[in-house]
Amino acid sequence: MTRIAIAGTDRVFIGGAGASLLLVLQEAGHPIATSCGGVATCGLCKITVQQGKEQLSPICPAEINHLGSIAKIVGLRLACQAHCSGEGDVRIEVPEVEDVAARKAAKAERLRQLRHGNQGGRR
Ligand code: FES
Repeated sequence: MTRIAIAGTDRVFIGGAGASLLLVLQEAGHPIATSCGGVATCGLCKITVQQGKEQLSPICPAEINHLGSIAKIVGLRLACQAHCSGEGDVRIEVPEVEDVAARKAAKAERLRQLRHGNQGGRR
């Protein structure tokens, strides 16, 4: 089992041998971006491994394709391709997931206010 700590939080999850970090995070209810469901095509599940990379499977070619050759140096991984393989601790940074619905609602409200303001100016 691998202990996975989320940087900037007090959250720690346990990943069974072979489980992807994406699966571990999703099962624990921790938000992480994905649109391909974990098949390494969207590139949205990008995380940074701050500590314990030796507790994870080696970086794979699909990750290099999405993240570039610098990924190994700076610790970037695709959570769907990083699998628990050790018995130690890992610390990862998971980017915040944008709330698309909230952004669309805010934009709609700004447009509504602009239209309302424009109508008021014509009177
Ligand atoms: S979930 Fe799409 S690339 Fe990882």
